[in-house]
Amino acid sequence: MKVTLIAGSNHQAATSTRLAEYIQHLVTSNGHQATLIDLHQTPVPFYSPDNAHGGHEALEKLKRAMLDADGIVLATPEYHSGISGVLKNALDHLGQDHFNNKAVLSVSSSGGAVAVSSLTQLQTIVRNLHGINCPEWISIGGDQRKSFQTGIAYSDIHPDVDKRVRRVVNSFLDLTALLSVRQEVVRQ
Ligand SMILES: Cc1cc2nc3c(=O)[nH]c(=O)nc-3n(C[C@H](O)[C@H](O)[C@H](O)COP(=O)(O)O)c2cc1C
Repeated sequence: MKVTLIAGSNHQAATSTRLAEYIQHLVTSNGHQATLIDLHQTPVPFYSPDNAHGGHEALEKLKRAMLDADGIVLATPEYHSGISGVLKNALDHLGQDHFNNKAVLSVSSSGGAVAVSSLTQLQTIVRNLHGINCPEWISIGGDQRKSFQTGIAYSDIHPDVDKRVRRVVNSFLDLTALLSVRQEVVRQ
């Protein structure tokens, strides 16, 4: 299966991006393909209904990776009880053809204990794009972010956090597989 992850932070040392990288690692360790689009490394232009930005390299890459994906992971920092501006801008470039009937896992990092507001907001956006929200999400809040600071090895991720991330990623991959089979049946 192919999984596309969007890391929606514009922060060099973002813990949400590091979490997305770890999820990418778990997905590939399970024998699947995983493409990470880091919006800090490869920014996309401000969305405008007046300009499709055809030929913009980073935007074309994002759209291609999303069309190719069987499953999608969206990672965001929690900003002002919502998702980041850069992630919302990237999502505004996308549509139902990128998300339709695909499993989507939302993950977030917050200063407070739980990133409920940004995760709820992401799930609302996914529903509007006709993606299928995973029943679970991943929130790293407060001290849990220490496991995803720059320089921390995957082997040093706190065992409780690691256990949850692995469990949720496995359930995301199960849902992605189920929905991929359904898509195949519909296509036949
Ligand atoms: C502009 C801004 C707004 C923020 N708003 C919130 C917030 O509403 N709730 C919260 O818990 N943390 C908030 N934070 C803290 C971030 O969620 C926290 O630093 C998080 O770890 C950032 O994710 P990152 O490590 O991926 O950059 C805010 C930080 C910034 C810079």
